[in-house]
Amino acid sequence: MRKNIVAGNWKMNKTLQEGVALATELKEKLASAKPNCDVIIGTPFIHLATVSELLEGSIIKVSAENCADKESGAYTGEVSAAMVKSTGAEYCIIGHSERRSYYGETFEILKEKVLLALKNGLKPIFCIGEKKEERESGKQNDVVKAQLEGSLFNLSAEEFSNIVLAYEPVWAIGTGLTATSDQAEDMHAYIRSLIAGKYGNEVAENTTILYGGSCNPKNAAELFSKPDVDGGLIGGASLKADDFKAIIDAFN
Ligand code: PGA
Repeated sequence: MRKNIVAGNWKMNKTLQEGVALATELKEKLASAKPNCDVIIGTPFIHLATVSELLEGSIIKVSAENCADKESGAYTGEVSAAMVKSTGAEYCIIGHSERRSYYGETFEILKEKVLLALKNGLKPIFCIGEKKEERESGKQNDVVKAQLEGSLFNLSAEEFSNIVLAYEPVWAIGTGLTATSDQAEDMHAYIRSLIAGKYGNEVAENTTILYGGSCNPKNAAELFSKPDVDGGLIGGASLKADDFKAIIDAFN
């Protein structure tokens, strides 16, 4: 059976000290709780080693927000998948819409990142989702299909079984405009059907598909109640321990 997951994406927020404080608060809040889902926090690179060590023995796992599309060498300022892995992080967010649009990450670049993450024992949290004008013109399914085919469907079924997907409609990210639970369910079911077509029903049924985009303590339970919505990738609301915990509790 697939896992339910609530994952935070801190983006470019929190100094190291602030990040340590937030991770500590979350660890304490979850110490006695028995969440009905896996919990991951995605932090900036510089927090990874410290936060991973801090969270050792807790149920919270750590993710990077990105990794390089090259193995190693003269790529000033880049951080490789091997380096991420060496911090103790287990996951790596790849293909977030902010990376695609602000940093020009193409299907090809993302394909390389996924391969390197997998090669180094990281589990990719791979983000897909359409822009506002694409939904308005009814192209959302085509967009998401192309994103999957362009960066993931080269993988073997075994490799693909390490992927967590996050459907994040770009128009819902950081805007307060959440997809309705029916819009999310329609897309998640469609994504699962594409996976089934490529890798078969068993792989499709075992793939965790998260929803992301203005998910908050108020709407999480409704979104997570849908059969194909297996949790959330949480931006803004992951920066406050109480809100993040409330979203985790939506699974109870
Ligand atoms: P948001 O971000 O929850 O702030 O909308 C989600 C994301 O970008 O992963």
